[in-house]
Amino acid sequence: MILGNLHLKSPFILAPMAGITDLPYRRLMKNAGASLVFTEMISANGLDRNAARTRELLRSCREEEPLGIQLFGSEPEVLGRAAAEISPFGALIDLNFGCPAAKVIRSGAGSALLRDPGRIGRITAAVRKATPLPLTVKIRAGWDAASINCFEIAAIAANEGADGVVLHPRTRSQGFSGHADWSLIRQLKNTLSIPVIGSGDLFSAADAVRMLEETGCDAVMIARGGLGNPWLFEQAGGLLSGRPVIPPEPAIRHLVVRRHYQLQVETFGPGQALKQMRKHLGWYSRGMRGGAEFRARINRLDDIDTVMAAVDRFYGDLNQQEMAK
Ligand SMILES: Cc1cc2nc3c(=O)[nH]c(=O)nc-3n(C[C@H](O)[C@H](O)[C@H](O)COP(=O)(O)O)c2cc1C
Repeated sequence: MILGNLHLKSPFILAPMAGITDLPYRRLMKNAGASLVFTEMISANGLDRNAARTRELLRSCREEEPLGIQLFGSEPEVLGRAAAEISPFGALIDLNFGCPAAKVIRSGAGSALLRDPGRIGRITAAVRKATPLPLTVKIRAGWDAASINCFEIAAIAANEGADGVVLHPRTRSQGFSGHADWSLIRQLKNTLSIPVIGSGDLFSAADAVRMLEETGCDAVMIARGGLGNPWLFEQAGGLLSGRPVIPPEPAIRHLVVRRHYQLQVETFGPGQALKQMRKHLGWYSRGMRGGAEFRARINRLDDIDTVMAAVDRFYGDLNQQEMAK
């Protein structure tokens, strides 16, 4: 899989997720087998204003390389300036033309741009001119069911120098409801000469491999399916090579959760780590025996050490049940 001059070791990529794909999460997922990881979407306007909170999102480290940086905005010049400025910090730039959040749309960015293909062309051209890095665009199927225009948008981006297109085949109106229409990924792959990366409804290794096979896309992006389940990357790689999917033992799960916690504390300190880990612990314990009680317990605790003691007990119990089998 090649995007511009970037060679990826596998077709399984970590999708950008605002509020989730912070540095600790990316390091964890990289370690779990993601071939490329993405920052949360970063505001080009925020970079222009030199906002500290925006800049903080660019924090990185060698372990997570290669890093994809995703930008959002609506003004070609501002996005061009932002791309030039961040180029030394990443290996690839992605432009967000798909975010359905009302606040982003009000600013004329994200999926609002799907209604203005000309502007998408001008933004892509400006960013292409501003950076030597590989460039991708991430789009949705269209604004709504009556205006599916991902083929037109992808062709414009390719024409203006994009090295790849990521398609999440839901419309803006759909938000996250219904199903991603994978047939649009297949159609796009059949019509576009640059690589196509598929996104949407990859909740298991089998889903990830099936998307590759059914659509012929060059790579897939894993988003919600990886929450609490970093093993998905290795499982998908194994399945693609014909190996069976083996769920991790409780002891392995425990180690990974502990590592996640350690990375959070190292990066943000205990207060912020607790906030983030509470969310992740909810996902890690999903579908596990005693998970609901565990979640209720940790939601009553407000100190990271007691929360982590509860984590140790939860996985200790799971481990004992496993041994008793
Ligand atoms: C919490 C959350 C935050 C997201 N943030 C972003 C984002 O910042 N940029 C982006 O391009 N897509 C974002 N997405 C969309 C995902 O990258 C992905 O395309 C989408 O979730 C479909 O994949 P899935 O069904 O496997 O989750 C986000 C999705 C979720 C669930």
